[in-house]
Amino acid sequence: MSKVERIPTGISGLDEMLAGGIPKGRVVLVVGGPGTGKTILCAQYLVNGIVNHGEPGLFITLDENRNHLIREMTSFGWDIPGFEKANKWAFIDVSPSQNVEGEAKSSKLTIGKKDFSMEWVIARIKAEVKSLGAKRLAVDPITSLVFHYQDTTQRRSVILDLVDTLSSTDATTIMTTELRIAGLERNVQLEEYLAHGVIVLQTLQVGKAITRVIQIEKMRETPIDTQIRPYRITEKGIEIYSRESVF
Ligand SMILES: Nc1ncnc2c1ncn2[C@@H]1O[C@H](COP(=O)(O)OP(=O)(O)O)[C@@H](O)[C@H]1O
Ligand SMILES: [Mg+2]
Repeated sequence: MSKVERIPTGISGLDEMLAGGIPKGRVVLVVGGPGTGKTILCAQYLVNGIVNHGEPGLFITLDENRNHLIREMTSFGWDIPGFEKANKWAFIDVSPSQNVEGEAKSSKLTIGKKDFSMEWVIARIKAEVKSLGAKRLAVDPITSLVFHYQDTTQRRSVILDLVDTLSSTDATTIMTTELRIAGLERNVQLEEYLAHGVIVLQTLQVGKAITRVIQIEKMRETPIDTQIRPYRITEKGIEIYSRESVF
C-alpha cells in the first residue's frame, strides 16, 4: 500500500489517535452535543494549519456569526482578524444573523430568516477555496444545511453532494453536526455513513465525575485508536489525553 498523505490537526493527542492526521482530501465529521467543543476544534484545526504549515483555511459558519466567533476564539489567543488580513483565513458567514445581499437563488433553503440554495453554498465554497488557496476547511455545523431535508433519500443526496464537493477541492475538511441522542448506545446518523471519517465528542458520567470523552469511530485509510479517551478544553483549546483510559 502506498503511503497515505496526512494532514496533522496539530491538536494535542488527536494526531496520535489518527496515525498522524486526517488523510489528505478527506471529509471528517465531528459529532457532539452542545458545548462539547466542536467549534473550538474546527478553529484550532485551521489555526494550526496556518501557524504550523502556512496553509490557508476557510471557515464556513452556519450558526454563529463572524464577530461572535472571533470574540470567542480570541480567548484562546487566536488572532483571526490578523490571519484574515494576511489572506490566510476567510469566512463564509451564512449564519442567521448575517445578511446575504440579494444572492439567494432557486430551490430555496431557509436558514434562520434567510433563503438560499444548497447550490449557492456549494458554489461559494468552491470559489472561496480557489481564491484563498485553502488547504483546510471547516463547516460548522452542517445541521442547518441538511436538517431542512426531511426525506431520507433527498437528505442523503444533499449530504453526498456536499461531501463530494468538499473532497473534490484541494483541501481537507472537518465538518460538525449536533449529536441528537447521547450515550454509549446512541443512534448512528445518516451523515456518519456518508463522511469519510467520524469523531464523536461526548460528556459521560464516570463514577461520580462528568468527563469529556472523544472517540474516533471511523477514518478511511487509517489504523485508528478506537478507544474512548478523555479530553479537556483549556485556555489553549482542546487537549486530548490519548494515553489515558476512561473506564
Ligand atoms: N477559555 C476557555 N477555557 C475552558 N473552556 C472553555 C473556554 N472557552 C470555552 N470553553 C468551553 O467550550 C465550550 C464551548 O465550545 P464550543 O466549541 O463552542 O462547543 P460546540 O460548538 O460543540 O457547541 C463551553 O462549554 C465551555 O465550557
Ligand atoms: Mg458550535
